[in-house]
Amino acid sequence: MPPIFSSAQAFLQQHRPIDPVRCQRPFAVTQAVNWFGANFSGQLVYAIKANPSPFILESMSKGGVSRFDVASLNEIEIVKQATPQADLFYMNPVKARAHIREAYFKHGVRRFSVDHKDEMIKILDVTNNAKDLIIFVRLHCNDEGSVLPLGKKYGATGEQALSLLKFVSSKAERLGVTFHVGSQALVPSRFGEAIRHVSRILQQAKVQASELNVGGGFPVFYKQGDPVDLSAYTRAIEEALPKVPLTKDAKIYAEPGRALVAEAESLIVRVDARHNNELYINDGGYGILFDAAFSNWVFPISLINNDNESPDLKSQELKPFTLWGPTCDAADRMPGPFYLPSCVKEGDYLEVHKTGAYGWAMRSQFNGFGRYEEIEVTDKVGLSNFDTKLHPKKTINENTTEKMSDQDQTILTSNG
Ligand SMILES: Cc1ncc(COP(=O)(O)O)c(C=O)c1O
Repeated sequence: MPPIFSSAQAFLQQHRPIDPVRCQRPFAVTQAVNWFGANFSGQLVYAIKANPSPFILESMSKGGVSRFDVASLNEIEIVKQATPQADLFYMNPVKARAHIREAYFKHGVRRFSVDHKDEMIKILDVTNNAKDLIIFVRLHCNDEGSVLPLGKKYGATGEQALSLLKFVSSKAERLGVTFHVGSQALVPSRFGEAIRHVSRILQQAKVQASELNVGGGFPVFYKQGDPVDLSAYTRAIEEALPKVPLTKDAKIYAEPGRALVAEAESLIVRVDARHNNELYINDGGYGILFDAAFSNWVFPISLINNDNESPDLKSQELKPFTLWGPTCDAADRMPGPFYLPSCVKEGDYLEVHKTGAYGWAMRSQFNGFGRYEEIEVTDKVGLSNFDTKLHPKKTINENTTEKMSDQDQTILTSNG
């Protein structure tokens, strides 16, 4: 168990960490899981690719999540070790024969996705024409408006979709259908559209589905303009569900990754140099801040300044900064802009918020970096998708400023 502090700021009052520090918030996982429980009529399947850390899996388990979307044998083993009774959904569009074999025979995996007929033939072949398969045909859907669209890789279209549905329905014990509207999907109605598309194709194929998995894509409020109210998403889903041709015993699932874990971590980084409006920090594109460099992600960020000689942060103008990661690669640059008090200097610490999704999973040891300290913190960070109050309070803490990415000066609430 990592040591527990009330906030990153409280930790920094006692420590000057050398490595970046992962601030873990297990309560944020519980909050997100409970929100889906109250607002979505189906079951949650956690896409473990978003963050496979032990504290996340433990929090899922405590929150009653026992279903996991896995993409590889390694993820299957990680889940099975943490939660032996877990129900696994092996949803990678293309799976190695050896991995299908081990998943089916050793780990009891029965749910697989297929985007092409040859993947279905492969699964049948490897499992000796198993009669107990639950196969999700993934349909292509409109992913416009998502920050990370997946449609180039995912989903059967047109005639292929129809014949795949008919083929799978004749071979699998239960026919499932799934889709993915793209990660960080900013348009709630995409879910409704995709479900209506599923209905039309099932009707055309003259088959009923026994399982419907509406995928992931639920967004996180990172910056001004991002959706805050996730109930618009679950409403779009619930409104479209009744028209889907489903069997009487049908099961409904959603498969979020990002939305369940983004708020469960923040990251403390140190400023190692400042050149004008460029800050050189000790994590970056080859670390947890992968998305900040390679997807131009603008995480909420705050300066935590515990030194008595520094000016009062409240009096400081906020300025746009570009961040550089610690490796020698020129691609290790996080363009932002990230707004911080103009006084920020070498030796200061920053807290980068909502880094729980895909950061830890994407980190590498390039240039010898990739070491992290871990603490648990109990404070809430800024505006949460799962807060009952949906509007940011314009408050500012004594020693901590938090600034959204754009220039309209919205201040995230800080309890530091
Ligand atoms: C098959 C599948 N399901 C679920 C997810 C989770 O998506 P998100 O993190 O956007 O919710 C992904 C992400 O790539 C995925 O590929």
